[in-house]
Amino acid sequence: MLKMQNIHTYYDNIHALKGINLNINKGEIVTLIGSNGAGKTTTLGTITGLLKPKEGKILYNDEDITCVQPGHIVKKGISLSPEGREVFPQLTVFDNLKLGAYTRSDKKEIDQSYEMVYELFPRLFERKTQIAKTLSGGEQQMLAIGRALMSKPEILLLDEPSLGLSPNLVLLIFELIKDINKLGMTILLVEQNAKMALKVADRGYVLETGKIIIEGNAKELLNDDRVKQAYLGNL
Ligand SMILES: Nc1ncnc2c1ncn2[C@@H]1O[C@H](COP(=O)(O)OP(=O)(O)OP(=O)(O)O)[C@@H](O)[C@H]1O
Ligand SMILES: [Mg+2]
Repeated sequence: MLKMQNIHTYYDNIHALKGINLNINKGEIVTLIGSNGAGKTTTLGTITGLLKPKEGKILYNDEDITCVQPGHIVKKGISLSPEGREVFPQLTVFDNLKLGAYTRSDKKEIDQSYEMVYELFPRLFERKTQIAKTLSGGEQQMLAIGRALMSKPEILLLDEPSLGLSPNLVLLIFELIKDINKLGMTILLVEQNAKMALKVADRGYVLETGKIIIEGNAKELLNDDRVKQAYLGNL
């Protein structure tokens, strides 16, 4: 469904992605794990058209989307929940969600998406009229994911959804990721919480300084000695 082929992305002369090959099949949860600065957010930025790769190709349902603008990427069915709960702080929960649907026009279908989001996140329903910046960290994270869902994506890209959340909320967020996947969405999950991510994912990739160093079935990665040592600690 989504394929990155030999992607090289730079920030001026910083070579952030050094030949990434990544493949996501329809219906899968794929996780991309790696430590700070490995290039995870850069990978998502390159997929969503925010960053232009210098070399390589991105294919989406066999169509070359390498140089497509971010707004068109969303229209094609790829949506990002950004790192750091970037919601619009001055707007209400409802208005944040509404903006997530900016590429769509069918009111009936948009209403179905509100329903889906409120069903997944009842707390957002209760807080529809609350200003986003006054939400708790976990609620803002839910709102960021909910907003991404409002574009009715085929693929949802999640950038560190568990970051900074309490253990209970981390569990809840990972449960919700499974629920979203069961609704038919394909998911690329970027995480530093490698253990939890590999537990919910079908397959995983390990990124280190701009290169994929290990890839495979999530269960195999959980038992891989290199992954255990570098990313799973003694948990
Ligand atoms: N706007 C930028 N300008 C210059 N260098 C950047 C920029 N954004 C990222 N980088 C560099 O690119 C590399 C990859 O960064 P990236 O944000 O993709 O890492 P990450 O894996 O998402 O890390 P984290 O887990 O900390 O979010 C890092 O060395 C980083 O310093
Ligand atoms: Mg990042």
